[in-house]
Amino acid sequence: MRLTDPQRTMLQGDGGRAAAKAMEILVALGEVFGAERLLPVKSVQVAGVSYGNLGDEGLAYLEELAEDGRAVVPATLNPAGMDLRRPEPMGLDPHFVERQRRVITAYGRLGIAAACTCTPYLAGNTAAPGETLAWSESSAVTYANSVLGARTNREGGPSALAAALTGFTPAYGLHLDGPRQPTCRFRVDARLDGARDWGLLGMLLGQASDGEVALLEVSPDAPAPDLESLKALCAALPTYGGAPLFHLAGLTPEADRYSAPSPKDTHSITEQAFRRVRDREAEAAAPPDLVCLGCPHATLSELQAAAEQLRGGQVQVDTWICTSRPIKALADELGISDTIEASGALLLCDTCFVVAPLKGRYHRLVTNSAKGLYYASGHGGMDVTLLRAAECLRVALTGGLP
Ligand code: F3S
Repeated sequence: MRLTDPQRTMLQGDGGRAAAKAMEILVALGEVFGAERLLPVKSVQVAGVSYGNLGDEGLAYLEELAEDGRAVVPATLNPAGMDLRRPEPMGLDPHFVERQRRVITAYGRLGIAAACTCTPYLAGNTAAPGETLAWSESSAVTYANSVLGARTNREGGPSALAAALTGFTPAYGLHLDGPRQPTCRFRVDARLDGARDWGLLGMLLGQASDGEVALLEVSPDAPAPDLESLKALCAALPTYGGAPLFHLAGLTPEADRYSAPSPKDTHSITEQAFRRVRDREAEAAAPPDLVCLGCPHATLSELQAAAEQLRGGQVQVDTWICTSRPIKALADELGISDTIEASGALLLCDTCFVVAPLKGRYHRLVTNSAKGLYYASGHGGMDVTLLRAAECLRVALTGGLP
């Protein structure tokens, strides 16, 4: 890989030990993937924030880097294992809380903002078409590539952190035109009604496209997906095996830029396929002990809709609604947060039910997130029921089966 003189001196240690280590990671990664050079990045989003995932080893690594490392481009974090300002209602082990605080302190010393969200594009870390990013969180990576038309690979925590400390990322994968070319086309012959259905589409497309970049065609008569629907699609697609990039005909910025996939690579996703998965995932054997919304982190409209439904009621089941801190600040201003919390539901920032240490504490989850379904049922070992957001809250208010 060709390095510029400043990049070479950084590798040799002129920018400090952390920057040299970061440059080593990027050069090694670039060589594995055949990159010829490094690209300057506009912004970074770093995963690997929950102490539950990092453990003491990860914490020690961050604290060592923080001795002389400093981010040189704007960088934000993925969700942590707790609400950083208000962990108490989450009922966490004090040891976890103390270690999670140390993780955030180390990132702070590294100059990485404790904006802990998987929707950085709604919280001040967004991107313009064609910009080069180094983002980690798969749903945000897919949103950045597909909806915003920016360019990022799905970085691991260490490579994103290395990009933050150096300002560079290796030029391979989705930074190049070739891998952004769609190689299959999927026609959606089904009625998509809201974010839950777009999440199901991400699930079906991810399973069927097998890591290939898809050109997606939805009936021109169908309503265009809103922000919440695109967010749900971007979260489910890579979770279920799809590439962190799709093109949606007539909507996303690069949909017309590449040649069309060959007719033999055209498939359809039918109403029947949707019905099968909807029916299967909506089946519940017993009442839930946890209801969660906000995966990915809830938008202001989602919080407003939740507040309208919860107004004057009391939840009968532990209910978490997760969002980013800037969206929560708006919700506070509008009285939405108070209405939600008056019902007994928790409105949490900086975290989510997948990265918080909940294993063994809850057993039956109701959520509207296809991505949440995957992680809570797999890694989390919970029975999960997938419903629309309004249905989830109805369950929360009645405590009964859907
Ligand atoms: Fe975000 Fe957690 Fe879901 S990081 S996408 S809310 S699993």
